[in-house]
Amino acid sequence: MKIPFEPYRSRIIEPLTITTEAERCRYIREAGYNPFLLKAEHVLIDLVTDSGTSALSVRQWSAMHGADESFTGSRSFHKFVDAGRKLFGTRHVIPCHQGRAGEHLLAKSVVRQGDVIPANTHFATTRANFEVAGGRAIDLPIAEQGHPDSDYPFKGNIDIGALERSLLDGEISRIPFVLLTVTDNAGGGQPVSLANLRETSHLCRAHSVPLLLDAARIAENCYLIKQREASEQQRTVRAIADEVFTLVDGLFMSMKKDGLGNCGGLIAVNDDEWAERIRANLLISEGVPSAGGLAGRDLESMTVALDEMFDDAHLEYRIASVHALGQQLVDAGVPVLRPFGGHAVYIDGRRFCDHLSNEQLPAWSLSAALYVASGVRSWETGNVMQGRFEEETQQWSWPRLDLLRLAIPRRVYTHSQLEYAGQSLIELYRSRTEISGLRFVYRPQRLAQFVATFEPVSD
Ligand code: F0G
Repeated sequence: MKIPFEPYRSRIIEPLTITTEAERCRYIREAGYNPFLLKAEHVLIDLVTDSGTSALSVRQWSAMHGADESFTGSRSFHKFVDAGRKLFGTRHVIPCHQGRAGEHLLAKSVVRQGDVIPANTHFATTRANFEVAGGRAIDLPIAEQGHPDSDYPFKGNIDIGALERSLLDGEISRIPFVLLTVTDNAGGGQPVSLANLRETSHLCRAHSVPLLLDAARIAENCYLIKQREASEQQRTVRAIADEVFTLVDGLFMSMKKDGLGNCGGLIAVNDDEWAERIRANLLISEGVPSAGGLAGRDLESMTVALDEMFDDAHLEYRIASVHALGQQLVDAGVPVLRPFGGHAVYIDGRRFCDHLSNEQLPAWSLSAALYVASGVRSWETGNVMQGRFEEETQQWSWPRLDLLRLAIPRRVYTHSQLEYAGQSLIELYRSRTEISGLRFVYRPQRLAQFVATFEPVSD
């Protein structure tokens, strides 16, 4: 695949810091072998996340300079709400400071003890918020999601049969809503097809259960629908998105991913009662309802991004550059999850480190080794993020896939920098049996990937 050239030019640059391998050995040890806990200045190419790391556009910066910083009812807030209503078609658009703040507000306002929330796959923070509110987050991905080599184009789809069964089996009164995460981050950045979105919507409406989106990567999902779903190739990404918004009853969205922001989030719903409760809770924990804990300039940046994120040239370049990185790895025999995700390339940790057991945390150990070898920071969505220790059986329950994620920030790294990251991983693959396994030193009950610490098994 030919990569289109970057559809922008750079006007501000930030020098990269070079470190030695010996220094990186020390830094990762001091960070408890958790790449998340490294100082960013010790990282050369930072692929830990695509969240909050975008380069802002001239349009965003100039809107930010014109922001209204009034405490409440600012011009910037009203512009944001108007743009959100126009795009999502919902009555209420409520800003908040990032995605998980939206999840928290929704969980606190809508989820009750004993509720069940079915989804294709919940992202870790979404699951944690629903569980803390007393709910049970259940994942109903299609079977193909568990097959890293399958080229099935929409591995983010929800299993319609399984969803129908959970709607029919008497639990319906305990289902406050069904959730589709687009794209499905925990399962490999895989999109949900328009056909699956339509079917899910139809099913939910037949049972009078609201359908919500975790829309963190809605633009990439719609671009992948255009690219992979035969019937949709003639439509614009925005036209596909417009249809998607008619199929759902609301959404929450981290504006730090496709939303091209360094902070920000939102909730968009039609239900007046939900909106009232969300605003009441927001006032307690986030700020005033007409700011959601954000500055006027953040609201201005989000308003521009609601339009900019659907730009065809931006999406075409972005998806092509992620694809090129994936292809570089596949060509060298590295076990990569197929098809490549929208925002990231995912490596099959268990196959890369087939000398390590699940307890030795293959993808996590690979992430630490990649940093030491190259200064490239990556992250895991696998055994550490999703593994659970069952107290009853005293056994670990491991996720279907243990993945290393190379997440690509938007508009930040050039093609040659990504090629360096790919080449570093390829070189590590050639000496993979030397990667030593890690084990937990400190593991919190929830969201271990952010704070857990580790030590080498061999020490
Ligand atoms: N939903 C999805 C699908 C996400 O990927 C994330 C965050 C969130 C919700 C929470 O949003 O970070 O703004 O609070 N994902 C980040 C990542 C952390 O690296 O994938 P947030």
